[in-house]
Amino acid sequence: MTVEATPGASKQAIEAHYDLGNDFFQLWLDGSMTYTCALWAGPDDTLEAAQARKIDFLLEAAGARGAKRLLDVGCGWGGALKRAVSHFGVERAHGLSLSRSQSEWVPAPGVTVDIENWLDHRPDAPYDAIISVEAFEAFAKLGLPPEEKAAVYRRFFDSCHAWLAPGGSLALQTIAYGNAGPEDFDEFIATEVFPESDLPTLAELGTAISRRFEVVTLHNRRQDYARTLREWLVRLKRERARAVEIVGEAVVVRFERYLRLSIYMFEKGTCDLYQLHLRRIDQPRGTR
Ligand SMILES: C[S@@+](CC[C@H](N)C(=O)[O-])C[C@H]1O[C@@H](n2cnc3c(N)ncnc32)[C@H](O)[C@@H]1O
Repeated sequence: MTVEATPGASKQAIEAHYDLGNDFFQLWLDGSMTYTCALWAGPDDTLEAAQARKIDFLLEAAGARGAKRLLDVGCGWGGALKRAVSHFGVERAHGLSLSRSQSEWVPAPGVTVDIENWLDHRPDAPYDAIISVEAFEAFAKLGLPPEEKAAVYRRFFDSCHAWLAPGGSLALQTIAYGNAGPEDFDEFIATEVFPESDLPTLAELGTAISRRFEVVTLHNRRQDYARTLREWLVRLKRERARAVEIVGEAVVVRFERYLRLSIYMFEKGTCDLYQLHLRRIDQPRGTR
């Protein structure tokens, strides 16, 4: 797929962020290399436990326990895929990613990955369960005309609907606009941290989901994100000298600024963090 033809972030834009080096991200993420909002329990909780809890929550919602085939759209370094096999008895856990260095990290017994845009994915058999954890933000570029943004979101849910076996579920985690809109999207984050990306509103998600998936649960965990980001920032500061050696001072400064800004946005509620358990509607009625 060409850059121009991609309604979301191009492979180049994804690589500019995720391919800075696995050893850089290893310094401040947890051991599973999960790069998304964790699910915290109590003041003494650890990042490792909170990330495992989040993954378990999403896998449980997707109905992954004992599943033959699981898909993770935007699998990152593959922590959820590996846990699906080791803790949920999934036979084959498959991930899609646009990042080469992430995908080199993923393979394990029962776990496979393709460097493939979900727009191009054509599975040879249905999946029993699908998860997608904070990849949705890269599916539509900032500035896309509203009808094109709506179309790509609808296409994502249509695709998941087609890929899932009857009765299956999709567990989706995404950052979304809270008390803000595209006009408030931070310029620095839009250009220097996550280029070619935008956030959905709850209304856009609702429209795109309608008559394809029923909403079983919806959680807004924005406070959990503020805590996750604070923990990442503490870890990055602790390992700062080594981080500068790996990626240089300017990149470290950029990441510190992005983490600080993001903490503020989730604390203020300009950004929300949604976890949606969506059950496939096997016989959608009418047109939409
Ligand atoms: C923030 S990371 C999240 C990774 C992982 N889900 C986690 O929880 O750590 C976003 C991921 O989405 C992937 N991604 C973004 N756009 C994609 C697309 N169009 N098709 C497939 N993967 C995509 C990126 O390569 C990256 O792995």
